[in-house]
Amino acid sequence: MRWGMGWAVLAVFAGSLICVLFFLHGLRSRETGNKTSIRLGIFLYRGDDTFISNVRLALEEQAKAYEQKTGIKVVLNIEDAKENQITQNSQVERLISLGYDALCVNAVDRSMAAGMIEQARAADVPVVFFNREPVEEDMRLWEKVYYVGVDARESAVLQGEIVLNAYRRDPLSIDLNGDGKVSYVLLEGESSHQDSLIRTEWSVQTLKDGRVPLEKLTGGIANWERSQASALTQQWLEEFPGEIELIISNNDDMALGAADAIERMGIMEKINIVGIDGTPQGVQGLEKGKLLGTVQSDQSEYAHAIFTIAAALACGEDPGEKLELVDEKYYWSGQKPLVRE
Ligand code: GAL
Repeated sequence: MRWGMGWAVLAVFAGSLICVLFFLHGLRSRETGNKTSIRLGIFLYRGDDTFISNVRLALEEQAKAYEQKTGIKVVLNIEDAKENQITQNSQVERLISLGYDALCVNAVDRSMAAGMIEQARAADVPVVFFNREPVEEDMRLWEKVYYVGVDARESAVLQGEIVLNAYRRDPLSIDLNGDGKVSYVLLEGESSHQDSLIRTEWSVQTLKDGRVPLEKLTGGIANWERSQASALTQQWLEEFPGEIELIISNNDDMALGAADAIERMGIMEKINIVGIDGTPQGVQGLEKGKLLGTVQSDQSEYAHAIFTIAAALACGEDPGEKLELVDEKYYWSGQKPLVRE
């Protein structure tokens, strides 16, 4: 009888031990990511923005490469908020409720990130913001919030240096009428975007630091858009006939819009135009001689960083072990100047 009891106790003990081991194994698999598939939500502020649509394509390529390398299936659900933050909030809410593993957010309104972060935190779904940088206070709301972008000041300094170098080589190639000052206009992106403010300031500052004599004729906001920039440039060309020598643009699309206006108006002077992004469209504009230069951000590095952080978080891994992060949450992607031959 006593022996029987002993065996029963032992059996119960062994059974419990096996259960605990299974439980721990399950927990560990979840944490270290023995996953066979991951689901990522990609939220775009505007799907038809040229730079953003190129990032999207690069993200899709990253997902394919990751699947091939790891055997883990990737579901990318790409949502376009069409510039509406309320739409984006509900897109985020929906994918959270569907149990997505991580969110990659290109916020419509970068000052409204807190709401999305709180929603994600409540469901423990990590967030990687990109391109439109939340304010630092919001970035600090939760440890599972990251940002991938390009350093705006660096872009602007490189853009300024393209003009500065050309001026130093041959001042008359920039000061077209040789009157001792370079008369320029400035095309700006959205007023609330960190890139517009910083790029505008530092491209001009770089020229001033390089002692290029400058005269600002005018400037205006064209919201990153080719058609808006084209209309604005036409207006300026009419307002300052024969005076504009240089067009500094916060991005390539607006730079190309300026070139469209010059072409449309049949202007023969070789007005120099510089952009930023190095999109395929921008590079083509450069090759055709429409732009003097652009600053190209490395799209595949950019998308690789967003994807790597999101996939690591989705698998319960530490992104800091995969990429070099600044302050444990920021990744700054590389860029380089491209100049017309
Ligand atoms: C900028 C980029 C622009 C536009 C904008 C959207 O960094 O240079 O072309 O895409 O982001 O947020």
